[in-house]
Amino acid sequence: MNKRIGVLISGRGSNFEALADSVAAGRLPGAEISVVLSNREDAPGIEKARARGIPARAIPSKGLEREAYDRLMVAALREHHVDLVCLAGYMRLLSPHFVAAFPQRILNIHPSLLPSFPGLESQRQALEHGVKFTGCTVHWVDENLDAGPILLQAVVPVEDGDTPETLAARILREEHRIYTEAVRIVLEGRYRIEGRRVLIHPAKGPEKK
Ligand code: GRF
Repeated sequence: MNKRIGVLISGRGSNFEALADSVAAGRLPGAEISVVLSNREDAPGIEKARARGIPARAIPSKGLEREAYDRLMVAALREHHVDLVCLAGYMRLLSPHFVAAFPQRILNIHPSLLPSFPGLESQRQALEHGVKFTGCTVHWVDENLDAGPILLQAVVPVEDGDTPETLAARILREEHRIYTEAVRIVLEGRYRIEGRRVLIHPAKGPEKK
C-alpha cells in the first residue's frame, strides 16, 4: 500500500508541484499525493493539481471558528486516507484538534532558518536584519507558529544586490529540494526525536551480496 500524502496550500503551489514531480520521478518510492486542499478558492495550486489528475478542492474558512474549520479539513484528509500532511504555503495556524489528529504526521516548509524570521515575509525580514545567510526549514507542526522540531534545513547566502524577490527565488529552489528529502526521511521512518532534536539515520545503501 502506498503512503498517502495530503498537501495543504493557500496559493501558488510550487512546493506541491515539486513534491508531485518527485513522486512522478520515483524520488519518493511508495508514496502518492492523494489530495490537495486549500483554504482559498483562488489558490492557483488547485488547478495545477487537477491538471495532474490529483483530487483538489478548496474548503473556504469564512465565518468558521478555527477548530470548526479544522474539523472539516481533518475529515477531508481522513476521507482520502492520508498518512502524512504536508503544509506547503498554507497560511493558517492549526488548532490542537488538527495537530492531535495527525501526531508527528504534519510537516511544514518555511523560507528561513528557523527560529529566525518566523511568520510572514521571512525573506524581507532576513534582508532587513542584515543576515549574511538565510535559507529554509522543514519542521514538524504544532499549534504554534513555525515552531515544531526541525527536520532539515538548507543554507542560502544573501548577496549584496538581493531584493526580497531574488532572495526568495534562490531559497525556493532549496525548498523544493529539501521538502522531498524530508518527506522521504519521514516515510522511511529514518529519524528519531529527542526533545527538540531530530536525529536522522543514514539511508540504507544497496544490499551487499
Ligand atoms: C514558500 O516560500 C513556503 O516556504 C512558504 O510559502 C511559500 C509557498 O510557496 N511557507 P508555494 O505556494 O509552495 O509556491
